[in-house]
Amino acid sequence: MLDAAKPQPAVTPPAEADSRVTPLMEQYIEIKTANPDSLLFYRMGDFYELFFDDAVQASRALGIALTKRGKHLGEDIPMAGVPVHAADDYLQRLIQLGFKVAVCEQVEDPAEAKKRGAKSVVKRDVVRLVTPGTLTEDSLLEARRSNFLLAVARAKVSSTGGDAYGLAWVDISTGEFRVAETDGGRLAADIARVDPREIVVSDALYADEHLAELWRGFKAVSPVPRDVFDGASAERRLAAYFDVGTLDGFGAFSRLELTAAAAVSTYVERTQIATRAPLSPPVREPAGAAMLIDAATRANLELVRTLGGERQGSLLAAIDRTVTAAGARLLAARLASPLTDPAAVSTRLDAVEALVKASALRSELRSRLQNAPDMARALTRIAMDRGGPRDLAAIGQGLVAAASLAGLIGDGGEGELTEVAAGLSRPDAALPAHLAAALADDLPLMKRDGGFVRPGFLAGLDETRALRDESRRVIASLQTRYAEETGIRTLKVKHNNMLGYFVEVAQQHGETFLKAPFNETFIHRQTMAGTMRFSTTELGQLEAKIAGAADRALGLELDVFADLARRVLERAEDIRAAAHAIAVLDVAASNATLAAEEAYCRPLVDTSLAFAIRQARHPVVEQAIRGRAPFVANDCDLSGSDGKGGDPRGRIWLVTGPNMAGKSTFLRHNALVAVLAQSGAFVPAASAHIGIVDRLFSRVGAADDLARGRSTFMVEMVETAAILNQSGPRALVILDEIGRGTATFDGLSIAWAAVEHLHETNRCRALFATHFHELTVLSRRLERLHNATMRVKEWRGDVIFLHEVTEGAADRSYGIQVAKLAGLPPSVVERAKQVLAELEATDRSAPTRRMVDDLPLFAAAPRPAAAPPPDPVLGLLDGMDPDDMTPREAHEALYALKAKRVRPT
Ligand SMILES: Nc1ncnc2c1ncn2[C@@H]1O[C@H](COP(=O)(O)OP(=O)(O)O)[C@@H](O)[C@H]1O
Ligand SMILES: [Mg+2]
Repeated sequence: MLDAAKPQPAVTPPAEADSRVTPLMEQYIEIKTANPDSLLFYRMGDFYELFFDDAVQASRALGIALTKRGKHLGEDIPMAGVPVHAADDYLQRLIQLGFKVAVCEQVEDPAEAKKRGAKSVVKRDVVRLVTPGTLTEDSLLEARRSNFLLAVARAKVSSTGGDAYGLAWVDISTGEFRVAETDGGRLAADIARVDPREIVVSDALYADEHLAELWRGFKAVSPVPRDVFDGASAERRLAAYFDVGTLDGFGAFSRLELTAAAAVSTYVERTQIATRAPLSPPVREPAGAAMLIDAATRANLELVRTLGGERQGSLLAAIDRTVTAAGARLLAARLASPLTDPAAVSTRLDAVEALVKASALRSELRSRLQNAPDMARALTRIAMDRGGPRDLAAIGQGLVAAASLAGLIGDGGEGELTEVAAGLSRPDAALPAHLAAALADDLPLMKRDGGFVRPGFLAGLDETRALRDESRRVIASLQTRYAEETGIRTLKVKHNNMLGYFVEVAQQHGETFLKAPFNETFIHRQTMAGTMRFSTTELGQLEAKIAGAADRALGLELDVFADLARRVLERAEDIRAAAHAIAVLDVAASNATLAAEEAYCRPLVDTSLAFAIRQARHPVVEQAIRGRAPFVANDCDLSGSDGKGGDPRGRIWLVTGPNMAGKSTFLRHNALVAVLAQSGAFVPAASAHIGIVDRLFSRVGAADDLARGRSTFMVEMVETAAILNQSGPRALVILDEIGRGTATFDGLSIAWAAVEHLHETNRCRALFATHFHELTVLSRRLERLHNATMRVKEWRGDVIFLHEVTEGAADRSYGIQVAKLAGLPPSVVERAKQVLAELEATDRSAPTRRMVDDLPLFAAAPRPAAAPPPDPVLGLLDGMDPDDMTPREAHEALYALKAKRVRPT
């Protein structure tokens, strides 16, 4: 076999030393040229080899040895290799680092190649492009996280005047396929909601400088040629992917949605090459169905991961009580995408409530859910011919679990449980029974390992296995016979891949085997350090028998596998429905368990503008400090005094108090309650009434964003601008210490103006925390502004935080006391007190008092700008009379005009 074994890099044949290109390299270069953006895993026997720059990059990224093989145009060719059996491991690390990998296999038997001549090269082809967004293997995926590939299409001008965007996203590991349309203002937030592993865009969109910032926020953005986003052929391509004549059966899609959907399916096709990924028909998400939460807010509220990027410490981790991987993925998706339709929220809450009440049923459901494997992903692998025996078993077990869950919940009854019941009872019982009968108890990972068919399932297979095992027994007995015949009791029969079965004896005995009469039976093969190895004709024959039987057995097993896979795929729709029902049930049971364990309540979600939360807690902080300190629950009411949102008083709370008093915690937990409620979960409060929030903003002053190269204050202002420009009356805005990132008076002024704008223009529900106490005087003028403060107690010069929110304004900031708590040297604390006393004597608050008294009554319309200074050019023009000028004077006048022109700076 020409390239079947791991190539030995050591010696360069003289023929290669010149600038001739070997046929192998010729093939390699051709394939590599066709895949310039990917590392090329080039199959040679039991290894994937990388050459040239790919080898250098991979060896650096993976810490594997960089060697060389032959020469190309007179230069050494760098080479690095990974063994095929461990390839998944390396792939996972490369994908994590943002590489794409083109997997190039031998696509013919090396024996075929030989027939074309001793020097001919085995045919090879790229069979798959491995990219972050197109993974299917468990070893490459996170079990509890979806893996979305998102395509973004743009139409330059929409009816509303701005750009319109089509979004389509798939998780090929489960087949989930969704589309939506959005606009320029919502694009970033909608992408953040999907949280894609990889984004596909056209070259043009990738190069668009307005979007560069957005793309930079993602690890994997793949630009593709424009034909992938061709709108004219979109419908045809999509129909072809699903092998249907028309898309009518899938529902109505906009042109842009179709373009994005076709792009994503084409990208899947081009990466999966030979195999078709079994996608579900696309489901359209209507615009506005989900609460809009931009990326900064998500990060800031730590919804599904912390600011540091960890799952641990996030809201998701604190509330996740799911016991299946699919359930965990669904819970994450729901948390990332809270609903805006109260009826849809209620359907989810009804199911949770039913399971909160039925605690015995709940715990029984959960213990049965634990036995439900990840059917959706197993099904995809089976459909793509990447499945193993364990995937078949997963389907079998999952269906058994589904049937037993269906038995427990009957027709469901409450809310979502009705839908769950319908999904669970779709698959029929014959399939799991058949799978259980066919599959052994202990299963290998790969079907090519064999041994997965249960003994007794197939008579022919049992016989062949017996033959193989019998020969193995004969070989074992040969060791005894050879030992007796030769008188060497330490003689061993061993096996390895190179020699097959062989006899091994110590060196001194080996020497006698080389002579008559032993050399008739024992044929010398190898001399090792201290031992010698021999083969015999008998061993050879037995080995051939074993190999023949093993081949036949494996062939029979693979037939069984193919048959089982076919049966599974025939029921794919039912299996998917059951898998989804299991996930939904797991989420409902998780939320119910959380509610019962942590004393959460059912929120009332309706179309009012209410926001009345009693005794709310922060779900993450509460769990984090448990055992060390009690969490102090607090009320918050932004609904206005009649409680229905009709009366607009008290819709903005200005929360003051010293550092560490609990302001940020209070702000965030109110936002989290809204997210939880609208995602269909119970909330950490005694009661909660929330009028649908359509848009949620949360910002913290002076957050660092060094990675994107903007000053912290700039980030703060860009984000604040987004809020003031975009929040409507249904928004909920959380502003935490805005204006902190600059000098005191600048900061105070900006915070001041922002509060006014929220109050007068946005008119939304808002919580505004600040250490600028000066702002509290605003409530005298702004009728819907309510002052709240964190209670603190002073005790012998120290400050004690009570974490309690009360009406009123903080009188001072206790900064020095906090600094003392933090362990600042006593001398510094003392000196700070002196300086403060001096500063206070000059009465810093006087100017702000004056400001508030001088302010005119607020007008909703922006005040007209002051009259601009007179324009010197206009002055000159007015003084000219063209009829009274010679051409020369006119020319000079033009010069004079140009000189007077003031350029804006
Ligand atoms: N309601 C509360 N009950 C108990 N501990 C709290 C509460 N609120 C805050 N804390 C604790 O106080 C710390 C500081 O709170 P934080 O909200 O960051 O204060 P601030 O924003 O006012 O500086 C938190 O990390 C938490 O441990
Ligand atoms: Mg804070």
